[in-house]
Amino acid sequence: MTGLLLRWWAPYAVPLGAALALLALGPAAGRAHGTAGVAFAVVLVLTVACAVGAAVVLGLGLARAIPEVALLGSVLWTVSVLPMVHGLLLPGTLYGPNPGTVVAVMVAVPAALLAALPVLSDGTTLGRRLAARWRIWSIVWLVLPALAGAALLIAPRLIPAPAPGSLVALAIVAVSLTGSGWLSWRHLRLFALGRRAGSLLASLGFLAPGLATIAFLGAGPLSTGWWLAHATDGLGVLFAAGGLLVAHWRDRSLSLVLAPILTREPLAALELGLTPVVHRFLAALEAKDPVTRGHVVRVAELSMRAGERAGLDPVALRELGLGGLMHDVGKLLVPDTILTKPSALSDQERSVIERHTIDGEALVRPYPHLAQVAAIVRAHHERPDGRGYPDALRGEEIPRGAAIVSAADALDAMISDRPYRQGMDHDRATAILRGGARSQWNADAVEWVLAELATSGPVTRPRLDAVGRGEHATEDALAACVPGGPRTEHRHAVSAVDADEPAAIDLFIQAQARRARSTSEG
Ligand SMILES: [Fe+2]
Repeated sequence: MTGLLLRWWAPYAVPLGAALALLALGPAAGRAHGTAGVAFAVVLVLTVACAVGAAVVLGLGLARAIPEVALLGSVLWTVSVLPMVHGLLLPGTLYGPNPGTVVAVMVAVPAALLAALPVLSDGTTLGRRLAARWRIWSIVWLVLPALAGAALLIAPRLIPAPAPGSLVALAIVAVSLTGSGWLSWRHLRLFALGRRAGSLLASLGFLAPGLATIAFLGAGPLSTGWWLAHATDGLGVLFAAGGLLVAHWRDRSLSLVLAPILTREPLAALELGLTPVVHRFLAALEAKDPVTRGHVVRVAELSMRAGERAGLDPVALRELGLGGLMHDVGKLLVPDTILTKPSALSDQERSVIERHTIDGEALVRPYPHLAQVAAIVRAHHERPDGRGYPDALRGEEIPRGAAIVSAADALDAMISDRPYRQGMDHDRATAILRGGARSQWNADAVEWVLAELATSGPVTRPRLDAVGRGEHATEDALAACVPGGPRTEHRHAVSAVDADEPAAIDLFIQAQARRARSTSEG
């Protein structure tokens, strides 16, 4: 996560924030450049374009009954209309010197954070109540900024503007920076999980209005700091629009485009960012053995939840999710007669099954984005006491991700039903897992998995069930966005999933199998 911050966030936020602070507090704070007419035109063109875009987003959200889209529309509307009033009130054009121009722009970000309250306070009672009344809330935030803006245009001296550098101005800067910084951080985490360009651009876009408020510390009208603050706002809009365009170009679907920006749930972020390769492996597993396929999606979900409980960072959570999904992919190469044999296996058959760790690693190894996952796939049957396979690793030699997947794998195998037997009851499975902590499974991993099981119960309807099936994925991802919000009507197939083309999948598996065999034998 620190790496992500340094690589993506810092090169943008640190110099920009420092430059804004320097210009707002330094000797250049009072020096004006350019004319009021140019500033008037620039600010107005930018904010009117934003307001039109915001109205379209809000309208789409209301028309298609997607709560998060409507709420995003009201937030964008708030941060467009109030700065538009700021532009109209700029002294030297339509109006003379007036405090309204400062007031309008200062309240914009705090007001937008209020508009975003149903999203920001999710998980709380207030958040759930507001989310349930998302239509009314989004219309309130359409009307309120418009009314406030109209009042300021009629009476620009209505409210005195806080002096630059005053306590009120400082508080507004602090609230704006904290709010937009937090939203930005949340989307950076989702980028770490799903690796969607849309999440990264949303993260940078959300940070811009907060950073721009640093100018309130003292940058005078038309000074370099003042211009930079407006350019930063423009940059935010550019990032947001760029994110939407990039995502739309890739997915050609509104829901898929907006989902990475609207998602707040780690599992949904992972699902949205899955590459076609992962979908294909899961589709192939489904075609070969639906029991194993059902098992891997549950293990992926349980592993990620256990990892979340353990406070792992999003990079580790991503590895856990992908590791869970891919851990048994080597079973694609196990003959059906052995894989689905209902009775006890011979020693020779057992050694064939055990090869799935090595074959699985060879199957995923060729994909650079699955390189970390290959280690989990190989090591998911290792044991801390050194009696596991294929490498007889001991204790801390076993990668942490593999240790968690291993515990989740064992638990799911014990409690789920098979065509030829009933699943074990939970108490017995829990006791077995506890009994094997330290010898068969990593003790921490057992604790995390069991704590997650005790809190949320077993994975009965896996969140990741759409993976590789090419249907409902987006609908479920969006439905997870707002707790209690209505499910959307959209059913877009995940692009580039060939779940309905068995012939293509067969060819794909055969090619992968040849490659895997030659790698693991060579
Ligand atoms: Fe396995």
